[in-house]
Amino acid sequence: MARKKIALIGGGQIGGVLAQLCALRELGDVVLFDIVEGLPQGKMLDIAEAAPVDGYDVCLKGTNSYEDIAGSDVVIVTAGLPRKPGMSRDDLIEVNSKIMTSVAEGIKANAPNAFVIVISNPLDAMVTLCQKVTGFPYNRVIGQAGVLDSARFKAFIAWELGVSVKDVNAMTLGGHGDDMVPLVRYASVNGIPVMELLENKYKSKEKAQEVMAAMVKRTRGAGGEVVALLKTGSAFYSPASSAIAMAESILKDSKRVLPTCAFLQGEFGVSGYYVGVPCVLGAGGVEKILEFKLDAEEQAMMDKSVAAVKELVGSMK
Ligand code: APR
Repeated sequence: MARKKIALIGGGQIGGVLAQLCALRELGDVVLFDIVEGLPQGKMLDIAEAAPVDGYDVCLKGTNSYEDIAGSDVVIVTAGLPRKPGMSRDDLIEVNSKIMTSVAEGIKANAPNAFVIVISNPLDAMVTLCQKVTGFPYNRVIGQAGVLDSARFKAFIAWELGVSVKDVNAMTLGGHGDDMVPLVRYASVNGIPVMELLENKYKSKEKAQEVMAAMVKRTRGAGGEVVALLKTGSAFYSPASSAIAMAESILKDSKRVLPTCAFLQGEFGVSGYYVGVPCVLGAGGVEKILEFKLDAEEQAMMDKSVAAVKELVGSMK
């Protein structure tokens, strides 16, 4: 049986980590594409030369030619500029729209059957554009944001409660911006509500709410926190890990339930927009959107986040 094939469009910070993670997990053969000559070739040679140490048997190729992505099962897109300190993700829309248009054309022409996972920012707009240009069905074009936003939320909860990250369950919905919706009501440690554990820890309901509000705020601004520290770019390890979780669920048909930027057609009261919601990801891409009832406060936050997504998408020329 032929090995799976993964194409990575954009060989920068995230692209390099994606390639290494694909190799370490032996997800399949990997092609790394970039417009900069030598960059993807150099990174893939470097990763290939670590294979005897780490013990992965996959083919790794760096390229400047779209023809090399032919036959890819999954394409992950990171092409585009990252943020600099003081910038919002939305500030990238003009330059990254042009890049995304050319990338989507390359994917459409060379890997017409692939599942596409977009990471480039501003995410909700870039995934919308990618689907429009490729014309691929909605279940095959998705965006990575929620897995990372949720991972950040989970990390903060684990650190606060002094428990393993493995036992924390939490999720964010909505757009990949400052209005994202971390779901406090469903945050748990092995099913035990996080709010209850915080109240036990602080012996005060008010203090527990204060601590949770701070974690929600930090989650919303977590990307910017990394940008401010790095000064020269944005987060790259965690976005790569998050997209790999999505790709792996599709490639292995695991049917994991992952918060995914998916096209909504009435779910959560939204029609015709890409928004972050829990999805079953399997061999069919988005196989199901898991809808559930939001309470009034959550719905209000979701509406605000969706309004921001609509404004962003509407601002694309
Ligand atoms: N086609 C392919 N690759 C391109 C193109 C293009 N038209 N234009 C730029 N690139 C490449 C750059 O050459 C660079 O190697 O995209 C890569 C982007 O890499 P970085 O600048 O290191 O950015 P990175 O940190 O990987 O983030 C990429 O993901 O999370 C988002 O906001 C982030 O939009 C940014 C994207």
